[in-house]
Amino acid sequence: MASSTGVLFRVHTFGESHGPELGAIIDGCPPGLPLDEASIQQDLDRRRPGQSRIVSQRQEADRVRIASGVFEGRTTGTPIALLIENGDQRSSDYDDMRTKYRPSHADYTYDAKYGLRDHRGGGRASARETAARVAAGAVARGMLDRHGIEVLAWVSSVSDLELACDPAAVTREAIEATPVRCPDPDVAWSMIQAIEAARKDGDSLGGVVTAVARGVPAGLGEPVFDKLDADLARAMLSLPAAKGFEVGSGFAGTRLRGSEHNDLFYREGARVRTRTNRSGGVQGGISNGEDVILRVAFKPTATVLRPQPTVDQDGNETTLEPRGRHDPCVLPRAAPIVEAQLLLVLADHWLRQRAIR
Ligand SMILES: Cc1cc2nc3c(=O)[nH]c(=O)nc-3n(C[C@H](O)[C@H](O)[C@H](O)COP(=O)(O)O)c2cc1C
Repeated sequence: MASSTGVLFRVHTFGESHGPELGAIIDGCPPGLPLDEASIQQDLDRRRPGQSRIVSQRQEADRVRIASGVFEGRTTGTPIALLIENGDQRSSDYDDMRTKYRPSHADYTYDAKYGLRDHRGGGRASARETAARVAAGAVARGMLDRHGIEVLAWVSSVSDLELACDPAAVTREAIEATPVRCPDPDVAWSMIQAIEAARKDGDSLGGVVTAVARGVPAGLGEPVFDKLDADLARAMLSLPAAKGFEVGSGFAGTRLRGSEHNDLFYREGARVRTRTNRSGGVQGGISNGEDVILRVAFKPTATVLRPQPTVDQDGNETTLEPRGRHDPCVLPRAAPIVEAQLLLVLADHWLRQRAIR
């Protein structure tokens, strides 16, 4: 079931970039949660293309329609179907890619696997599929909100421009204050300039999204194969263009000694807490009650608007000159998608924990 994820909060996505519709089916969402299209739309609006000059200019309204599972504004416990129409397609932009493989895109590997592919917009490999995940993530958000769990993600680097900040202090307002979704206005400005310059050159940039989940109770995560951090890594690396994942101190932690790296326990009222959070809120694959903190690396967008040598489906060496409306940097739109993935994993593990205790 390559297009399904989750054990109890189970999500299936379907649809291609240039098909008529895409969407998600959620099976296992508890009954009685308030849910309407407007609350899902808020998250979709943060992901959609065409929202600023530094993202793809494809103009998609990404209006979501709830087709089942909701009655009089509340979930019924039956499968929730969420449908999103594809509107602004220009399939002719992809004519050159019908036979020629885009370097570092999914064209060659889809052909190698299936022997055919929908070349228009990247088909199922397109980041349009993530609209379905964001819609499903908004439903998970509605459930987790009720239990005091808040999830935020922001752009913490673009190329070599890096933001140093305390994840505990980041707010939704600061993230959404600029189109690049970096909560520091000065760093955000430099990132925007860099993305604009790359776009004018017909080129692209990569970067990192940082995410935090606050209010996660201790106990979420299922040793040994479904550890919380293992499921988060899987969820994040299933995103298009995601090339790296870290939780807590991540790779940088390897430079410390154990005595420096350990998160020391202390008592705060009835709670056991840690003085630092290098574990990123997960120990032994189980949440420890501190903020869950993770980072996801996204590569520079594969489709660059300049000629590049490649090979066609008959094996001939050739040159590709891509057209189309591509993201010069996927990061600003990746932040809400990382949030959605984090929400979906937490919702699933929240239900799994409730099932055993
Ligand atoms: C929000 C977002 C937007 C993206 N936009 C584009 C795009 O405009 N053009 C492109 O070539 N790739 C884009 N991608 C990435 C491709 O979908 C991805 O690189 C491709 O499917 C190959 O998969 P891989 O990079 O994971 O190997 C985007 C990814 C994300 C997360």
